Amino acid sequence: MNIETIFETMDYGTAPEERSSALQWIQDHGGIAGPYINGNWGPFRDDIAVCNPATGEKLSGMTLTSSKEVEDAVKCARVAQPAWEALGGAARARFLYAIARLMQKHARLLAVMESLDNGKPIRESRDIDIPLAIRHFYHHAGHAQLMATALPDRKAQGVCGQIIPWNFPLLMLAWKIAPALAMGNTVVLKPAEYTPMTAMIFADICAQAEIPPGVVNIITGDGSTGEYLVNSNVDKIAFTGSTAVGRRIQDSVANNQKSLTLELGGKSPYIVFDDADIDSAIEGLVDAIWFNQGQVCCAGSRLLVHEAIAEDFHNRLKSRMDKLRIGDPLDKSIDVGAIVDPIQLAQIKNLVTTNTAGETYHANIPVPDGCYYPPTLITGLHPADTLMQEEIFGPVLVSTTFRTPKEAIEVANNTRYGLAATLWTENINLALEIAPKLVAGVVWVNATNLFDAAAGFGGLRESGFGREGGWEGLQAYTKSKKPLSTPVSIEAFKGFSSGSDPIDRTAKLYIGGKQTRPDGGYSQAVYSPKGQFLGHVPKANRKDVRNAVQAQTACSWGKASGHLRAQILFYIAENLSASRESFAKRIDEMCGGDEGLKEVNEAIDVLFYYAAWADKFEGRAKSVPMRGIALAMREPVGRIAALCPDAAPLLGLVAPMAAALATGNTISLCTSQPFPLSGTDFYHILEASDVPAGAVNILTGHQTELATHIGAHMDLDSVWCLSSQKIAMAAKQKASGNVKRMWQGASLNDHQSWLDAGTEIKTVWVPYGE
Ligand code: NAI
Repeated sequence: MNIETIFETMDYGTAPEERSSALQWIQDHGGIAGPYINGNWGPFRDDIAVCNPATGEKLSGMTLTSSKEVEDAVKCARVAQPAWEALGGAARARFLYAIARLMQKHARLLAVMESLDNGKPIRESRDIDIPLAIRHFYHHAGHAQLMATALPDRKAQGVCGQIIPWNFPLLMLAWKIAPALAMGNTVVLKPAEYTPMTAMIFADICAQAEIPPGVVNIITGDGSTGEYLVNSNVDKIAFTGSTAVGRRIQDSVANNQKSLTLELGGKSPYIVFDDADIDSAIEGLVDAIWFNQGQVCCAGSRLLVHEAIAEDFHNRLKSRMDKLRIGDPLDKSIDVGAIVDPIQLAQIKNLVTTNTAGETYHANIPVPDGCYYPPTLITGLHPADTLMQEEIFGPVLVSTTFRTPKEAIEVANNTRYGLAATLWTENINLALEIAPKLVAGVVWVNATNLFDAAAGFGGLRESGFGREGGWEGLQAYTKSKKPLSTPVSIEAFKGFSSGSDPIDRTAKLYIGGKQTRPDGGYSQAVYSPKGQFLGHVPKANRKDVRNAVQAQTACSWGKASGHLRAQILFYIAENLSASRESFAKRIDEMCGGDEGLKEVNEAIDVLFYYAAWADKFEGRAKSVPMRGIALAMREPVGRIAALCPDAAPLLGLVAPMAAALATGNTISLCTSQPFPLSGTDFYHILEASDVPAGAVNILTGHQTELATHIGAHMDLDSVWCLSSQKIAMAAKQKASGNVKRMWQGASLNDHQSWLDAGTEIKTVWVPYGE
């Protein structure tokens, strides 16, 4: 064969990576993947087999860690945590550096083990998974070092339970463990049952790095072990995996105060405009959907291509698919490796064979027997077709077309997920116009699958909440040093008369900028501590909640500039100042005492405070190791509902409202249940302050009932639970339907936490150069 024919055929021989060292490592460690708790290994039991997906051979046995053993691990982590935090950031940084160095030293072993265990091409584990995992530890060593000066108001969460999937075993471990340790937490981490092996090497590295016992604990096992961990005495659960399991976990933690982050599935759009550099877009697509056999949560699995170039694009794509090489993951010249497990393979086959829409094209290449699936393209689908909506989690790309940028955005956002999006166009103005409009936590412009420890990664909608990486990722592993005020439940005062006024002066609900009567037509009386009748307020029901959320949806407050939002908040403050006395009097009448004026003044201060932040709560341009920028844009969370605290009837209403409005959200406020009249008085202030219809809605009534409807509402993005724990639970128990962001608020004066709760980071990657 001469050079010309080599170029012509692109045919070359195999380049197998040596595997005996990794297999020997398993033998030297007893041939079992088992728990590593408090610096000790075991118990080792051959409960289930861990197999090499490329061959089906057993690599190792695995312990299914029992409920009692999980409890022990959590106890050890609990004991170790205070000392680990007290070591200080600089000392923790040294440990993280040591881990990073040792991972570098063992990089080859880690890469080979990852490919043996998961089936991914060695080219990817060697050049992507392992280097990125190492980078995470280096980067977070820096965060540990800087914690005291850069995050002086934050402290560790405590003990973190972490559950990771099988698609990026070591990388997901690094994403979870590095920030947790940096911020002074201890961890109990469960790798996926298919892929525990690199976590075993990692535990060994922790021992070599002399990480104090109990700081890093690894427990092996399946979903049951994961459930034990979720239900154990941890302070935080961080989960990456399927949306179905994420939902179950959200339900499981609804009855307690565990903090939760979920990084779930996706069906990410890959949009190609007609002016795109088509060859580059096709190379990007190879990475987007055939990287890791398509078993990637942010895979660009939904191709949207401009109608004018679709035919040409599909043809060129098919010829590129025919050049992909599928086979032994440890062959360095392989593009596509093995599917992680026969169960996963069956799922992919089932989804493709039961589909009757569009045209299916399998790459015309030899596919080895066993756990392999050929790169596949399904064209001509409609946006609503099952395969355009369901995550396949395999090397299958589905495709549809669009005509205009507006239509591209509509089709792209027509999904219950919101993890990532890619767009290709040579027109930078168009790219920067489209990127903010895509409902996704990450957007890649003229590139795909760019990741870095400095840039946040995470989703919206049913792709979960929370970010991993960067400053924003540290949020999840820290909490405010300001003491959390525990909201108290206050009984409404009782009275005997309901007033003798012949004219009905029942206050109204405030929905869509209008005073409206409640759908159910019921109201309740409000009395002073001495039983004196003060007024009637409506009892809102499910339909009133629905109407309020509809009004929020119709409101374009999210598009208002920070400057305008500030102006309106200043205006509200000014109008409240003008009615200071009457609001103070009302609070004193309802609650008793003479603290009313103080509360009104605090509410006015809060309005000025958030008005000041409205045009200053900014994102960042991230320093990522590539020629380009990663913009961390702060976006409003969207439609929020707040269950206001019983105490502080005015401040408890105004603070969440101001924080939400300042950050570009709309909000429906359920007033203090025992003292609702400050809320119903307040809509007169809103009416006088040019607040757009639907930006703020005020509901009165029975909070437990409203909490249930709010928790269950599929169009609300977040619920701020500032009321009693019982009411928060009522909302949280219903929240997993659309994987809502549930926030059990910090104290009313912890303003930074409120601003953070009102925003989510979208990372937009824009490479430089031609
Ligand atoms: P999975 O969500 O069941 O497993 C992920 C992790 O959660 C594993 O460590 C597993 O042991 C653990 N787990 C399972 N049930 C649990 C429970 N009830 N409580 C606590 N932990 C539990 O994912 P699986 O079964 O491996 O894959 C199924 C589908 O999930 C895939 O076809 C894919 O669509 C999706 N998936 C998405 C991932 C992502 O990164 N978004 C990663 C892996 C899978």
